[in-house]
Amino acid sequence: MNGVAPFFCVFGPGNKGKHMSQDDVLDPKPLSDETVFDEQIRPQRLEDFPGQDPIKEKLRIAILAAKGRNEPLDHLLLNGPPGLGKTTLARILANEMGVDFKATSGPVIERQADLTAILTGLEAHDVLFIDEIHRLNHAVEETLYSAMEDFEVDILLGRGPTARSMKIGLKPFTLIGATTRAGLLTPPLRARFGDTCRFEFYSPKELQAIIIRAARILDVPIDSDGALEIASRSRGTARIANRLLRRVRDYAQVKGTGAITQEMADAALRLLRVDELGLDDMDRAILHTLIEKFNGGPVGLSSLAVAVGEESQTLEEVHEPFLIQVGFIKRTQQGRVATPRAYVHIGLKPPEAPQQTALF
Ligand SMILES: Nc1ncnc2c1ncn2[C@@H]1O[C@H](COP(=O)(O)OP(=O)(O)O)[C@@H](O)[C@H]1O
Ligand SMILES: [Mg+2]
Repeated sequence: MNGVAPFFCVFGPGNKGKHMSQDDVLDPKPLSDETVFDEQIRPQRLEDFPGQDPIKEKLRIAILAAKGRNEPLDHLLLNGPPGLGKTTLARILANEMGVDFKATSGPVIERQADLTAILTGLEAHDVLFIDEIHRLNHAVEETLYSAMEDFEVDILLGRGPTARSMKIGLKPFTLIGATTRAGLLTPPLRARFGDTCRFEFYSPKELQAIIIRAARILDVPIDSDGALEIASRSRGTARIANRLLRRVRDYAQVKGTGAITQEMADAALRLLRVDELGLDDMDRAILHTLIEKFNGGPVGLSSLAVAVGEESQTLEEVHEPFLIQVGFIKRTQQGRVATPRAYVHIGLKPPEAPQQTALF
């Protein structure tokens, strides 16, 4: 079937600890402003998805090959920091294959029966997307092994000593798993994916293309310097580029004629306290704390998180990857360490390199 099915799982905190019925599963989320904006600009085809060229190249071949053999795409693992387009790409793959897209997430699938219900509802070649796949519980993960490998699941009939298990065949489908923490995946699960795609941060040029495309869809006038200004302050992340575009659009509408130029973008981003590298208040707080409270490190992740008042997981998955990418933080066995560049960026003098003392 063509088209993309709506997300059929509700991820809200209201569902925590409660078993989800099919009704919960089919209830769409209320749409926030951000969601509406996202839906408008979310690329639908591979050719509308700028960047991640090595991934797109191999997936183009995989799609043609699978279609040529009339088979589903091989199971695929998408790995990388948040906001780089993993969910978007999974939906594009379903579109390109002309099949339905069903989405859920690791922590939402609490019981084997939940997963079995989802799997038995899939049509041939459908894409099942499991976000945060590293957070599946063990029993559910085991059910996935035979589903992925042999397209069958075991179900238990009856209870107690008379219970017996029965195999149910599934229609051949494609599992696309997304994770920000591939290192946490168990080896047996990892081994069942035909391929892994590692997402890289976008270059400013690629983000510029993403911003120009989004602005065109939204009918916002923007020049290439305006787009590049937003792009180079978006931390290599498509989601942030789109978010900053929204904010700069508001600013340009209120303070100017609505057109986004470099000056307009710069003024808006200053107001938002996004610096020339795209670091926000939390990123700078992390650098200040690491340098001023912990003497530049090494310091453990959890101590750093407590000191800046942020969850360890957010620090590790959202802030750190970019701070490492721009060379401000290093992860060492002893903990996080600030680099001399980090000192300079926040206006401090880096410590002298330790003197080499002669050993004789
Ligand atoms: N290559 C891209 N081109 C255009 N927009 C993109 C691209 N990658 C991501 N986006 C947009 O960025 C936002 C975040 O993407 P998403 O797929 O949810 O990221 P992830 O699943 O990796 O966290 C979405 O609004 C999406 O439309
Ligand atoms: Mg996602």
